[in-house]
Amino acid sequence: MTPLAAPFPHCRPRRLRRTAWIRDMVAETRLSVSDLIWPLFVREGEGMEEPVASLPGVSRLSVDRAVEAAQRAADLGIPCLALFPYTDAADKNPEATEAWNPENLVNRATRAIKAAVPGIGVLLDVALDPYNSDGHDGIVRDGTILNDETLIALEKMALCQAEAGCDILGPSDMMDGRIGVIRSALEAHDFPDTLIMSYAAKYASVFYGPFRDAVGATGALKGDKKTYQMDPANSAEAMREVAIDLAEGADMVMVKPGLPYLDICGRVKREFDVPVFAYQVSGEYAMLEAAFGHGWLERERTVLETLGAFKRAGCDGILTYHAPLAAELFG
Ligand code: PBG
Repeated sequence: MTPLAAPFPHCRPRRLRRTAWIRDMVAETRLSVSDLIWPLFVREGEGMEEPVASLPGVSRLSVDRAVEAAQRAADLGIPCLALFPYTDAADKNPEATEAWNPENLVNRATRAIKAAVPGIGVLLDVALDPYNSDGHDGIVRDGTILNDETLIALEKMALCQAEAGCDILGPSDMMDGRIGVIRSALEAHDFPDTLIMSYAAKYASVFYGPFRDAVGATGALKGDKKTYQMDPANSAEAMREVAIDLAEGADMVMVKPGLPYLDICGRVKREFDVPVFAYQVSGEYAMLEAAFGHGWLERERTVLETLGAFKRAGCDGILTYHAPLAAELFG
């Protein structure tokens, strides 16, 4: 704790809050459009924008519409998109083979976006859940999520994504050893510059519910993800996960969910001082939008205050469905 400069009345902290210009001048953190990553959901078809009921204002976009969204993001100054697929049930199976189909939705969308809007970054999740008929991030046999078998699938998946032109791989599956396997594969196949943002501290959270609707995994998921995603009770374990992922070759780490886990964001930043990102997940967005819909909270100011909280906690950036709105507010 910094000692006070002088006792009252010589010291009056309110002097620094009296006018807008002095408040701005002494602001400790500043949120800007370059902090934002915008998650988009892609689906088959053309000219399609299919609203996701539990995520008001968010739609599943066909690839052509995703390209338009990418152009909008670029115009707004948003540096990076995160793409997630809504996979037709017919393309899912227990081995999640669609995950390493070079022509799968996210790989096609990545190529189309990179061709049309080359300056924008693309982040892709590396996890099997959108392609797995069991709805799990890993391969399931007799009710068990298999770690090492899943790594083989993730490696193939990651290489297809790098080949498609993805800038950042986001392993979000929480299998042990995945970062090392993916990093070695990237080096071996001449992708030395592909970034890895590992979902290092990813909790088994109830707040992913609307996302699972958006990618069509809700009905498929059998059981829960507690044998691989982290227990919300834990904090020291998150530091171990981050340390492991960095040692295996992650360039940046992510904490997920966001607002309920700001303590973890702050601790990771303080203990590791590497680029830290938070995912303000679907359930957080849905809660806020529900309150906005009722007129209980004011949308613009709430969005800026909640996103600003991530910066204060020490995050370098935020994945948020509110990215385009926030970018418009920065004007
Ligand atoms: C897939 C994945 C999930 C999210 C991002 N990647 C869901 C899950 O782990 O069940 C959640 C994102 C959100 O809720 O907005 N592994």
